[in-house]
Amino acid sequence: MATAATRSMKSVLLLLSVQIMFGLLHAVISEEENLEMERQLTVINKPPIKSFKTDYGDILDCIDIYKQHAFDHPLLKNHKVQTRPKHVPKSTTEGESPRLLPDNIKCPPGSVLIKRTTKEDLIMAKKMKALGLNYPTNPAAADALFATVRYSKHNLGATTTMNTWGPSTSHDQASFANLWIANGPTDVLNVVQAGWGVVPQLYSNNYTRLMTYWTVDGYKSGCFNYMCPGFVQVHPEITLGIVLNQLSVYNGTQRDIQITLFKDGEWWLMFFNKVVGYWPKKLFFYMYAGANDVIWGGQVMSPSDEPSPAMGSGHFPRDGLQNKSAYFKDTQIWDGVNFTYPTPDQLVVCSTRPDCYEAKITPGVAPSHMDLFYGGPGRCNNI
Ligand SMILES: *[C@@H]1O[C@H](CO)[C@@H](O)[C@H](O)[C@H]1NC(C)=O
Ligand SMILES: *[C@@H]1O[C@H](CO)[C@@H](O)[C@H](O)[C@H]1NC(C)=O
Ligand SMILES: *[C@@H]1O[C@H](CO)[C@@H](O)[C@H](O)[C@H]1NC(C)=O
Ligand SMILES: *[C@@H]1O[C@H](CO)[C@@H](O)[C@H](O)[C@H]1NC(C)=O
Repeated sequence: MATAATRSMKSVLLLLSVQIMFGLLHAVISEEENLEMERQLTVINKPPIKSFKTDYGDILDCIDIYKQHAFDHPLLKNHKVQTRPKHVPKSTTEGESPRLLPDNIKCPPGSVLIKRTTKEDLIMAKKMKALGLNYPTNPAAADALFATVRYSKHNLGATTTMNTWGPSTSHDQASFANLWIANGPTDVLNVVQAGWGVVPQLYSNNYTRLMTYWTVDGYKSGCFNYMCPGFVQVHPEITLGIVLNQLSVYNGTQRDIQITLFKDGEWWLMFFNKVVGYWPKKLFFYMYAGANDVIWGGQVMSPSDEPSPAMGSGHFPRDGLQNKSAYFKDTQIWDGVNFTYPTPDQLVVCSTRPDCYEAKITPGVAPSHMDLFYGGPGRCNNI
């Protein structure tokens, strides 16, 4: 009896909270914005050849590789689709990616797997923009919280291995771990970035996801994953936005992902040994021939009236490294021929609020390899 009563009480509460959330959704979005988003979604989400629904509630579509949203970009009208880089850097061919989706989720030949963009995704992107989505070195980003390390020399990309976490955030906050490749003056900065993120969602859907972003104007415009045309998906089984379901456990087993961003003609993204897709070089004026900046580390975003969210494992590196702190290991710079480990004197460590989030480099397995440990519990005010 008591349990039935509790259960019905719970469902009333659930119903109430769902209604409150719908209320919030409608409060922040006018009818006009709502219609605009509907229109955007019909442009972004192309007619699928086949669709799947995941256990996480995502819809994944198989889209004809030649008909994806990427080609709505005016610069890509006559783009010749590449299906693979000409040269895949050797050390990226070893790491076998864990199975993230059931075996049956696989697109037929000629089509690629693309997570369907939802209204919530568009709202998330808007929120992030309102919070001042920015580049780690931009001093104008007063509300940006970063704990990073930077390498500033000519490069054609980089590879890194980072452990994955599920830091807690509120509905309005986000917590990321990224590899950024960039070049250009601040107001027209060209950037491609990839890593994992916990991004705000309406329904306590706080999964850790594979997230990318790119911009050619210093974040005035730009977008996550497939939300604007540009990124050409080539893989039939790995999609941007995919839920990373194997997370590290504090003082327990660590789970890694390997991310590689490198230029081989186009700017390619690899997830472990899998070529996910690319941003055509034509999109980038300042990264047409390479880049001059590689940054890796954590980033959190929060409205200024909320205590800031956790970054990484939610623990400071100073409270323990092994199995406890978020890290980037084996970060190497690509020069078009070789991967090389940056030396400590080539690295600049930066934490915008060291009292909230720490960044620390230490020699890795081989002394010449520097590992980055970063993160913290957050809960900082007045950011
Ligand atoms: C994510 O949401 C679930 C369900 O609301 C909750 O149980 C879990 O603690 C949350 N995880 C984090 C890291 O906030
Ligand atoms: C971490 O794990 C070890 C055993 O693996 C245990 O002895 C120790 O108490 C744990 N520390 C914390 C802070 O949980
Ligand atoms: C880290 O975890 C691994 C596997 O769970 C364990 O073998 C190792 O002893 C741990 N290291 C430390 C320093 O706790
Ligand atoms: C790449 O590495 C090889 C062997 O270590 C070396 O001979 C060559 O000069 C390197 N190439 C570049 C472009 O650094």
